[in-house]
Amino acid sequence: MKHFFLATLFFSSALSTQILNFQDKSTFKLAYGSCNGWRNRTSDIFKQVLKDEPDIWLWLGDAAYSDRKLVTRDLQGDPTRNSLTQDEVNYIENRFNASKFDPYYTQLREQNKTKILGIWDDHDYGMGNGDVTFKGKDQVRKLYLNFIEEPNTSMRRNVSHQKGIWEDYLIQLSNNNTIHLVLIDVRSEFNTVSNDRLGDQQWAWLEETLLRNSNASLTILASGIQMIPDRTLFLDEWEVFNKGKLFEIIRKVKKVHPKLAKMVLLSGDVHFSQFYFNPCHSETGGVKLIELTSSGMTHSAWTQLYCPASFIEMINPDHWTTDSTYRSPIVNEFNFGLLQFDTQNRQPDGAQLHMQIRGMDGQTKIERKVNLSEEGEAMGKRKMCNLLHQRHRKVIQAIHTIKLGISDFKSKRGLSLIWSVGFIAFIISTTVSISIRTFTFTASLIKRFT
Ligand SMILES: *[C@@H]1O[C@H](CO)[C@@H](O)[C@H](O)[C@H]1NC(C)=O
Ligand SMILES: *[C@@H]1O[C@H](CO)[C@@H](O)[C@H](O)[C@H]1NC(C)=O
Ligand SMILES: *[C@@H]1O[C@H](CO)[C@@H](O)[C@H](O)[C@H]1NC(C)=O
Ligand SMILES: *[C@@H]1O[C@H](CO)[C@@H](O)[C@H](O)[C@H]1NC(C)=O
Ligand SMILES: *[C@@H]1O[C@H](CO)[C@@H](O)[C@H](O)[C@H]1NC(C)=O
Ligand SMILES: *[C@@H]1O[C@H](CO)[C@@H](O)[C@H](O)[C@H]1NC(C)=O
Ligand SMILES: *[C@@H]1O[C@H](CO)[C@@H](O)[C@H](O)[C@H]1NC(C)=O
Ligand SMILES: *[C@@H]1O[C@H](CO)[C@@H](O)[C@H](O)[C@H]1NC(C)=O
Repeated sequence: MKHFFLATLFFSSALSTQILNFQDKSTFKLAYGSCNGWRNRTSDIFKQVLKDEPDIWLWLGDAAYSDRKLVTRDLQGDPTRNSLTQDEVNYIENRFNASKFDPYYTQLREQNKTKILGIWDDHDYGMGNGDVTFKGKDQVRKLYLNFIEEPNTSMRRNVSHQKGIWEDYLIQLSNNNTIHLVLIDVRSEFNTVSNDRLGDQQWAWLEETLLRNSNASLTILASGIQMIPDRTLFLDEWEVFNKGKLFEIIRKVKKVHPKLAKMVLLSGDVHFSQFYFNPCHSETGGVKLIELTSSGMTHSAWTQLYCPASFIEMINPDHWTTDSTYRSPIVNEFNFGLLQFDTQNRQPDGAQLHMQIRGMDGQTKIERKVNLSEEGEAMGKRKMCNLLHQRHRKVIQAIHTIKLGISDFKSKRGLSLIWSVGFIAFIISTTVSISIRTFTFTASLIKRFT
């Protein structure tokens, strides 16, 4: 049965929210994952996804590694070229085909029990760390949307209608429950100079749709890159500028919808999985944020240890944060995320929502059960939070300035020096990190035994 084909689709205005009808479900399941098929790597992860029988499968970035450095460099570096050649288009389509025709994923698609959705990140956008300047983006946009089998009539395909492929859905469930699922495009309009990830058109849309739809039982914001953690150095992330704008919107939304207590954020990109919580609820008007990153369907930080970010995260997961209580342990094996929403609210602890990271072996690796109406902490800590965020803001601004300097330098002087500097910075930060960790560990031992 194709439940979702019964859905009513509204494409009326610039502000269209698609309606998906799953009203016959008493437990609704959404599964998602990211980072699939790097250098033709494969896994049988979809075998397990199939067993969990999700109602929706959400590709959350890097569904295929369609970017190839040479292609991007030739295109971006050549002022006489404005688009991808047919050969390059074929290469990219081929990479998407490799993901699309994964045998178990094919089974998932052909069973017609699971609705496929998706939003891209850099590697399926066509350019590593890609931004608004990518000349091939409209060509890849079409290929990506074909890959996720977006309907031909969808406004996501209309380049003059919207500058990126952002989209949102109201998922209607039994017992008057609804889920508002918002897919955010952090690539099409990403301005690396101002650090604005979304662009004016998408910010306006995001605010409007959240103000309109946050009376849903659950609001989910999905973005390829991570939203809560401040990492700054090696990994892409929302950073203070974009988080500040989002938090401002959430504060407005909370005023209009005072019952809104929690929002769920989904992300990918980093080749491991982890939970994050926003430490300062006053920044979001009291709304508690729970982020679950799921990353690594065919490769994980373990298989990418040469990548400095993965390495640092592995040896010291708290490297970038001031308080380790706001994150969970890391999952460092092939995995996907699974959210289960109980429309009957049958759980004695009030946990309508069950969030899990699932492994290839069918085991749950980390999980949280969530009572969606439970409020965040009181507003009293605002002062402490402001201080904390001011400090973050300064550090992140400084690092952003350095990054801009480096990319300017890189464009003028070539790469080799950058790599040397980067490598030295990596060694220093790793040494500092390990020293701090050893020091705090020793201090805690001394405290315990004296
Ligand atoms: C990936 O597979 C395709 C064909 O399936 C091949 O043309 C390509 O060279 C492979 N790429 C790598 C990086 O192995
Ligand atoms: C991708 O797969 C489709 C469907 O089988 C096929 O028509 C198309 O030619 C393939 N693209 C490439 C570049 O191989
Ligand atoms: C799924 O839907 C397609 C197209 O509507 C149809 O051809 C196919 O037989 C369906 N598969 C199953 C298993 O129902
Ligand atoms: C969408 O358009 C393509 C080509 O433009 C066509 O081959 C395909 O059949 C269309 N799909 C649907 C569902 O109409
Ligand atoms: C694409 O969007 C533009 C601007 O909103 C609109 O005028 C046009 O009719 C749309 N085209 C299609 C085919 O829907
Ligand atoms: C759903 O909402 C409608 C309209 O507010 C109400 O009449 C109906 O009783 C509700 N159904 C359930 C199962 O709560
Ligand atoms: C949310 O509010 C709109 C009107 O603003 C209403 O049509 C809709 O039924 C409400 N949804 C829920 C889940 O209460
Ligand atoms: C869920 O949280 C709300 C608000 O704190 C509380 O009133 C309610 O009792 C909780 N539900 C259950 C079943 O514990």
